[in-house]
Amino acid sequence: MKVIVAPNYEEMSKIAAKEIAKLLYVKPNAVLGLATGSTPEGVYRELIELNKAERVDFSKATSFNLDEYKGLKGDHPQSYRYFMNSKLFNHVNIDKNKTHVPSGVAENIEKECKEYDESIEKAGGIDLQLLGIGTNGHIGFNEPSDFLNLNTHETDLTEDTIKANSRFFDSIDEVPTRAITMGLGSIMKADKIILLASGEKKADIIAKLVEDKISTRVPASMLQVHQNVLVIVDNAAASLLKNSSNNEIEYVK
Ligand code: F6R
Repeated sequence: MKVIVAPNYEEMSKIAAKEIAKLLYVKPNAVLGLATGSTPEGVYRELIELNKAERVDFSKATSFNLDEYKGLKGDHPQSYRYFMNSKLFNHVNIDKNKTHVPSGVAENIEKECKEYDESIEKAGGIDLQLLGIGTNGHIGFNEPSDFLNLNTHETDLTEDTIKANSRFFDSIDEVPTRAITMGLGSIMKADKIILLASGEKKADIIAKLVEDKISTRVPASMLQVHQNVLVIVDNAAASLLKNSSNNEIEYVK
């Protein structure tokens, strides 16, 4: 696991956006795995600017998002499809038909999940997967548990996650309690993974992710066995990392 510590959120976002732009330069038809939440918003803003300046081209790219709330249609303002359209897709030259977000309202969720994994395979697999991380160690909506799922599946959200995500809703009662998420297997199959974290509240989980033993109670810790993971954090999220770590840590000024 390589760790880059950026001085702040903006720099963290720029470094990640550059990695995505670099990939699309060498492989214009790359398959991107994308995340929602507060953390990647800066990356998407940066990519929009790079696209306007014609320094990144999405015209041949395909994307697959990690997850979607169960029960929310794509036009619901809190759905992840809506988030992706408004924060990125509507502002860059990506073909919307090649952007994928699991459906939260499919009649047959099991079939939807199976077909989602099949579409990823058919597209050639994910070249670069962008991830955020929950304070409880979740990636996508793979929540801490005794057992983890390989494939895209329907899952319960933990109380921590419901509470954390209630900031986007008028009241906590409106937060869906279930979601569709890519599984750990789908995520780990990506050629390259970039995990982002920003702020003091992520410091504890970043230290666990980078330095603790692998545990299903910290789903993100599974990334320790992936060959090509880049963790990009800001100073605050890196504040509990010990220098004794076995990982390569680069501090960017
Ligand atoms: C979002 C996702 C989640 C978030 C995580 C962190 O698609 O899969 O795992 O990445 O909950 O969210 P933020 O960035 O809002 O702290």
